[in-house]
Amino acid sequence: MTGIKSLTDFADSFYFNKKVLIRVDFNVKVLDGLVSEDYRIRSTMSTIEYLVRRGAKIILASHLDRPKGKDMRYSLLPVSKKLSEILSPFRIPVLFSNDCMGKETLDKINTLNTGEVLLLENLRFYRQEEENDEGFSKILASYADVYVNDAFSTSHRKHSSTYGTVRFFDTKIVGFNVAKEIEYLSLLRDNPPKPFKIVIGGVKIKDKIGALNHLLPKATKVLIGGAASYTFLKANGISVGDSLVDDDYLSWASTALNNYADKIILPIDHRVAFSENSTEYKIVKDHIPNNMKGFDIGDKTVQKFIQEIHNNGLGTIFWNGPMGFFEKELFSHSTKSIALSMALAYWRGVKTLVGGGDTLEAMKEAGVSESEVTHVSTGGGASLRFLAGDEMPGIDILKNNGS
Ligand code: 3PG
Repeated sequence: MTGIKSLTDFADSFYFNKKVLIRVDFNVKVLDGLVSEDYRIRSTMSTIEYLVRRGAKIILASHLDRPKGKDMRYSLLPVSKKLSEILSPFRIPVLFSNDCMGKETLDKINTLNTGEVLLLENLRFYRQEEENDEGFSKILASYADVYVNDAFSTSHRKHSSTYGTVRFFDTKIVGFNVAKEIEYLSLLRDNPPKPFKIVIGGVKIKDKIGALNHLLPKATKVLIGGAASYTFLKANGISVGDSLVDDDYLSWASTALNNYADKIILPIDHRVAFSENSTEYKIVKDHIPNNMKGFDIGDKTVQKFIQEIHNNGLGTIFWNGPMGFFEKELFSHSTKSIALSMALAYWRGVKTLVGGGDTLEAMKEAGVSESEVTHVSTGGGASLRFLAGDEMPGIDILKNNGS
């Protein structure tokens, strides 16, 4: 990471009594007031603990979802409770500020003791955050002496807390979580150990095109499942019934199929139903009947994909996106099987990388933990942008650190 300072580049004593603003991404799933998936929160623990042990005063800033103004359904209060639970074995106290601006916030920041952690309320309660407003950025910068970016998954956004405010800090540092993401995703983007296999699923092709354009020439095989596969199948002249198709990307898919015919593997059978509420499915080969919709890849395709995953020895596998509508038991079989195969590949020594919140959720459903994967990216959109070689404002702005 040329030109970017990491936490260990500074003497331990440097952090003592300093206020450190850490941009974290605590945009996690909250159901009935409880955090249901805490991977993004846990992934920042090492940075927080490191700074606390060195006597810093920690201010955490994050967004949650995309609220329109102050909407308490998107409060970070449940997240602060989760964080408190996670940090309690380390005896690190977590305080919460009901706002990220204003007097209460300032008072809480000014009375912070060394080793304490203060989580601010949702930054996106203010539209100025996403507008990268200069005044808003200056206020955030006034809170601390040091800025740390530990929110990889928001680093593709040019917002106040990820970009604007950073310009007002003399000392800006990359956190452990972001550094780790950069290390693994750079390996994947620039020099993936061969054979290099990509497993792509999910719904939105649009988000994946940049990454696929960049990775396809390097890939040994690309297995395409999930809703993304119906666009490819249709582009290949296969009827897909009422399945989800992104018509805007048919011609891109057709070009990709022509250029990489030897690499791309599409489903050969499907689990289809009349609607997502159906209680039963049918397996069809090749073509999907007119009034039916594909909700999962079929058993033969699963076998084929698993065989490909384990073929040709070790190397790298990147998995992004579920193979079907896994939220429903009826259509979760293939995604779970792929998750288990990824774990097996990892145990055999393959470098496995997984990206996207849905993919992580699917993995967990299959009983595969993060420790059975070489790297689980905290970023969905951000990791795809990084792999596409796109600009990452939240990382680029950390360069040329004056101190
Ligand atoms: C994410 O979940 O991908 C990040 O938190 C960024 O969220 P956003 O797409 O709403 O900016």
